[in-house]
Amino acid sequence: MKKILFVTSEAHPLIKTGGLADVSGSLPKALAELDQDIRIIIPNYQALKATESVRFLFSLRVDNRNINILETKLPDSKVIVWLVDYPTFFNYPGNPYVDEFGEPWVNNAERFALFCRVVVEVAMDRGYQDWKPDVVHCNDWQTGLIPALLSLEHDRPATVFTIHNMAYQGLYPVSDVALLNLPGQLWHPEGLEFHNHLSFIKGGLVYSDFITTVSPTYALEIQTAEYGYGLEGLLEYRKDTLGGIINGIDLDQWDPNTDTYLPHKFSVAALDQKLLNKTELQTRFSLPSNEKVPLFGLIGRLVEQKGIDLIMDCLPEMLNMDLQFVLLGSGDKVFEKQLQDLALQYPDKMALKIGYDEGLAHLIEAGSDVFLMPSRFEPCGLNQMYSQRYGTIPIVRKTGGLADTVTDTLPESILNNTASGIVFNEASASSLLEAIKRALILYSIPDSWKKMQITGMEKDFSWQKSAEEYLALYDSL
Ligand code: ADP
Ligand code: GLC
Repeated sequence: MKKILFVTSEAHPLIKTGGLADVSGSLPKALAELDQDIRIIIPNYQALKATESVRFLFSLRVDNRNINILETKLPDSKVIVWLVDYPTFFNYPGNPYVDEFGEPWVNNAERFALFCRVVVEVAMDRGYQDWKPDVVHCNDWQTGLIPALLSLEHDRPATVFTIHNMAYQGLYPVSDVALLNLPGQLWHPEGLEFHNHLSFIKGGLVYSDFITTVSPTYALEIQTAEYGYGLEGLLEYRKDTLGGIINGIDLDQWDPNTDTYLPHKFSVAALDQKLLNKTELQTRFSLPSNEKVPLFGLIGRLVEQKGIDLIMDCLPEMLNMDLQFVLLGSGDKVFEKQLQDLALQYPDKMALKIGYDEGLAHLIEAGSDVFLMPSRFEPCGLNQMYSQRYGTIPIVRKTGGLADTVTDTLPESILNNTASGIVFNEASASSLLEAIKRALILYSIPDSWKKMQITGMEKDFSWQKSAEEYLALYDSL
């Protein structure tokens, strides 16, 4: 049995802004089911929603500050969660990373550097809990300084660093190196320095014993200039200690047959019930109720990564076709405004909700016929897996985890019953439009459509296999 300290800046259902939370809330559960001794460690944000009891565990003095470590459990599981309690840095309202205007909290470098330092103390058992992990598993830039700082310790645990998104690197001005009081030996171009900036993510990429990312295809993509953001050389250099392990999904939360957010539960055996969710979705969005018209859905951060600009370019033509489109998301204010304007122009065809709404996200996955995910890059992506599980055909661009989890509808895949979605190559509006037209043709052939739905619903997206891969990796270190 391995002792694993899983370090993350968000974990569903405690606190969530995106897919990192889904993974941090479900992979540790899967590892616990494989009988591993795993603990999550996370900052104690004001908005964190613990449902199990919280108790004081121990105190640490780090950087002349008093830090308390509290203990709770991940809701509805036996996974232990350690909360790093330092109200001066974490008792802020709302989002863990940005203020109400969407601007990063001004002291993010200090906040997450302190978090990293505390995790190092916990990993070295300087709180005297008689629990020292074999492996510290870090996730994304917020945890990047941990492998760097641990590299300076004797008799340290092994470190794994998982990249969920290369686009977010935690880059700060050089002056922060002194402010954060970082050890001088880490500060050089082969260390934390990146073009005269302090790079949190480099701490993970340079100093961890092994780097993973969340799909095999993305692991290759980030070694190229197009996806590597200037770090492709370093990643290529580390290619023998870099690998992709595809994310699973939490089947307790995402199962159409038990999903408590759905007015009508359904399964392969009762697929007709899916239609009732479609009607409910149309009503919720004040679109005309019509079982026949193909209903397209989209959920996500409205940023360029997700190909929202491609959708904007397609929408005028798309909305002249016989279809409906519902969208839930928030992000770039320019996209939000453009989308709202279009919805006003086509009230019978398109409706959207700007904001975050978990229940509605489940209903969109259940009630839509087609899910749009034309990402420019996608380390893994979860919604395309939720879609397939919910009998909703995803249209995806062939990149990252989308390429690894959706099988395109081609003569061969139709014949051998593996087709589960529509995949296009080029990041252009014309390729996306073509994919949409292909979807409409397939939708008009109910038997083929149903076959694809069932193929997707029966695919194994559970964590089992990927959790075993992580375990094999921990064992190898
Ligand atoms: P990313 O992490 O890049 O945003 P993923 O597909 O990995 O993309 O995960 C996004 C997660 O966040 C999914 O669980 C998705 O349903 C959820 N999500 C994104 N935007 C919203 C929203 N506006 N309301 C509810 N859930 C959302
Ligand atoms: C990131 C990526 C997304 C991935 C998620 C969880 O937010 O953008 O593709 O699914 O992390 O790994």
